[in-house]
Amino acid sequence: MVSYKELGLVNTKAMFAKAVNGGYAIPAFNFNNMEQLQAIIMSAAEQKSPVILQVSKGARNYANQTLLRYMAEGAVAYAKELGWEKPEIVLHLDHGDSFELCKSCVDTGFSSVMIDASHLPYEENIALTKKVVEYAHAHDVTVEAELGVLAGVEDEVSSAVSHYTKPEEVVDFATRTGCDSLAISIGTSHGAYKFTPAQCTRDPKTGKLVPPPLAFDVLAAIEEQLPGFPIVLHGSSSVPQEYVDIINANGGKLPDAVGIPEEQLAQASKSAVCKINIDSDSRLALTAAVRQVLNQKPAEFDPRKYLGPARDEMVKLYTHKIQVLGSAGKSE
Ligand code: G3H
Ligand code: 13P
Ligand code: ZN
Repeated sequence: MVSYKELGLVNTKAMFAKAVNGGYAIPAFNFNNMEQLQAIIMSAAEQKSPVILQVSKGARNYANQTLLRYMAEGAVAYAKELGWEKPEIVLHLDHGDSFELCKSCVDTGFSSVMIDASHLPYEENIALTKKVVEYAHAHDVTVEAELGVLAGVEDEVSSAVSHYTKPEEVVDFATRTGCDSLAISIGTSHGAYKFTPAQCTRDPKTGKLVPPPLAFDVLAAIEEQLPGFPIVLHGSSSVPQEYVDIINANGGKLPDAVGIPEEQLAQASKSAVCKINIDSDSRLALTAAVRQVLNQKPAEFDPRKYLGPARDEMVKLYTHKIQVLGSAGKSE
């Protein structure tokens, strides 16, 4: 049993309360490898932004759970070395799909877990979430739950259509489960293809796809039911067009990729939305840089020569996201 407290991590409790009251959101960045982790810590330390290191089931298997625990401990030490006196870093399980997985994460140093039972019938979602909450809270670990289903793939959880969260269910759900935060569905989805071209309009000047707005009315109705309760947005990558263009210009194929406009994320951050999940944008930044270097320098085979530029690009990306979400300077 390894407690996150031994690793220098924090849970989300105080962080979320401050974010909700302060009108900003904490970035939750998914990572799978050292360069992503370095870039996240460099950006958060430089900006003095609380940050959530987010690991999916697949990422945990990819990295190895033992190595991951030391990477998280190393991330805290590295943040201090960079001059962040009191790093506020959360290690969070993203889209946990079973009690056993959540328990294993609590037992190996995670400070926060998500149980995603949103695809189950309502009562089953409540029962599984409650079971995870009971175990996690006994170890001072915070729990994110989900109500409503996002379109697209959620690890091994999938749904063809988006079912918005029903505001009339949130009080009952939060009260009966005891969860610390709630992921909701208001029109975001995972990956680089959040909307089909048919769902978008075309900007007549640029010819680029303009997606439909998020359901801010549903968010407002949820906030009215649960004033001040921490709300989470998944699927919040904005899919920067410049990365898509670089990828496509260097042998990639991402036609009509489209994400959530950043103005809408900035708007959501000012509400009770206090955690915003970003994974795809980091993948795009990394892939764009790697493709460009390898295309321009076909003789290059030192990984540092293409992963280094990828890391630099991710630092730029994360730094920018921290600005958009308003979390810069919120930590000491
Ligand atoms: O929501 C899912 C995250 O983007 C993680 O994706 O399961 O491919 O690691 P993954
Ligand atoms: P994106 O695919 O939009 O980056 O969403 C990531 C996410 O929600 C992780 O849980
Ligand atoms: Zn997600």
